Amino acid sequence: MSAQQELQEENLVLSLRKESAWASPYSLYQFQNFLCPAIHIQAVNNCQKYFEAKDNDVIVASFPKSGTIWMKALAFAIVNHQRLSTAEKTHPLLTSNPHELVPFLEFIYAGDIPEQNLLLSKVAEPRVFGTHTPLPSLSKSIVESNCKIIYICRNPFDNFVSAWNYFNKIKPADLSALPMDEAFEIHMLGYWKESIARPNKVLFLKYDDLKKDTNLYVKKVAEFLGCPFTEEEENNGVVDNIVKICSFDKMKDLNVNKSGTVGRGSVEKKNFFRKGETGDWVNYFSPSMIEKLSKIVEEKLSGSGLSFKEYYQNN
Ligand code: A3P
Repeated sequence: MSAQQELQEENLVLSLRKESAWASPYSLYQFQNFLCPAIHIQAVNNCQKYFEAKDNDVIVASFPKSGTIWMKALAFAIVNHQRLSTAEKTHPLLTSNPHELVPFLEFIYAGDIPEQNLLLSKVAEPRVFGTHTPLPSLSKSIVESNCKIIYICRNPFDNFVSAWNYFNKIKPADLSALPMDEAFEIHMLGYWKESIARPNKVLFLKYDDLKKDTNLYVKKVAEFLGCPFTEEEENNGVVDNIVKICSFDKMKDLNVNKSGTVGRGSVEKKNFFRKGETGDWVNYFSPSMIEKLSKIVEEKLSGSGLSFKEYYQNN
């Protein structure tokens, strides 16, 4: 990054309001109405300015720790199913981590422009990208082009537990453990509303539904992306193979996901695979925490038509 860019970034960060939040060891700032880690502010800005979406791009959007890596793997396998067989030992998902095949826009746009161009040129078409940026802060070209957005979210209880475990693992040693009983930000309503207003543009998926019936949702995603499976492909096990190659046990066990780092060396790949289950939150929440979080979730989602009650009530 050039000295001028560094100065611009510093000035931008200094002009924003700093917030404390349990969910991240990074400094978080109020930026364009959302809590953005300082390290991503310039990238979100750059992406808005420079990213040109192509009509055949696929964007996997999510709140952190809601199964992004799984959805990235599935989207990559699905969109490429006609040219890359998941039955082959050479399938890219067996030799590359999904974050490498489906890079985050926030990481591509964190560097200099020549570096951004180089990283972009390495992404094969149809390009699949990830983002944690809320809908209103995406590059206009993503919203206005014909590219597709798949939004993956998760019941907030497991999302919370996953994030808590993850951020405590990757936080610097001198930071104390993060408190678990503070409210957390739900940033899914923007995508939810857009998925209702523009169902051909945004597909809204729940991690928990996907866990229940992965085959069904793999077929839904393929239809949404305009590359449905033929009857012959289904009979030949193409859908089953995609589900298998992207399954938690398979992905966790691959050498390429067991060692090494991603995100410019910032995160160990193994940290993206913990338990991979719905309902692990029961091992973490006290009755008073359940009550508190249920209240927050219900308040935030009230009147939206979106609900996760089936995943946290009567447990
Ligand atoms: P847990 O911490 O509950 O195990 P993200 O990719 O957004 O960071 O989400 C990580 C969460 O997805 C972790 O949840 C991780 O274990 C889970 N996960 C990773 N790969 C998965 C897969 N193939 N199937 C299901 N869950 C997966």
